[in-house]
Amino acid sequence: MGVYKYGGKIATKSLAPGFRVYAEEVFKKNGKEYRVWNPFKSKLAAAIKKGLKNFPFKEGINVLYLGAATGTTCSHVSDLIGKKGKLFCVEFSADSMKELIKVCEKRRNMYPILADARTPENYEKIVGKVEVVYEDVADPEQVKILEINAKKFLKKNGIVMLALKAPCIDSSEKKGKIYEETEKQLKKEFEIVEKIDLEPFEKEHRFYVLKQQ
Ligand SMILES: C[S@@+](CC[C@H](N)C(=O)[O-])C[C@H]1O[C@@H](n2cnc3c(N)ncnc32)[C@H](O)[C@@H]1O
Repeated sequence: MGVYKYGGKIATKSLAPGFRVYAEEVFKKNGKEYRVWNPFKSKLAAAIKKGLKNFPFKEGINVLYLGAATGTTCSHVSDLIGKKGKLFCVEFSADSMKELIKVCEKRRNMYPILADARTPENYEKIVGKVEVVYEDVADPEQVKILEINAKKFLKKNGIVMLALKAPCIDSSEKKGKIYEETEKQLKKEFEIVEKIDLEPFEKEHRFYVLKQQ
């Protein structure tokens, strides 16, 4: 289990062979199905392609994913953590949730949660402690949302990952200024372990790996 290389591409071994999530390319090797992970469609894949060093997605861990959308990145995380892991997928758009549920039905380690990530008390009875909190919510309050969820759910020594979209914080500000301000805010609660600009895969996005202080 892990991230596999396939030519110049990356891939994960499918937990649900025969089922595609976002029309991704698949291939077979030794009778197993692998799904190519597209860095133009998934910020986590983009971060891996750009040399991400801290990669916590091991078999059997529990992950809280904020901003699951229709399950593109979640499905690869589901492949990585395997049947023994649990992936709690928080999404507040009912339209996205309809598609996400179809993915979760095929992958029994994914738990769909229709909720606003600003109110974690609404899902604290479902989500226990997790090794990773991952956030990609494209919301001006991204940092605050991350803090309250990490405080509630992250295990000691757990890892936090944030895909930050600069224009979501302030569309009129230059991205350098937004990153600077956001990092100042992040440093109040977290240690910044790694940061990666996601260009050319995603414009004006920076990916952070954080630890709680
Ligand atoms: C950029 S998309 C996420 C893409 C997804 N992470 C992926 O890689 O497949 C951001 C998602 O966050 C959701 N979102 C934004 N604010 C939210 C909030 N406060 N609570 C829950 N979901 C939120 C949006 O509805 C949207 O589906």
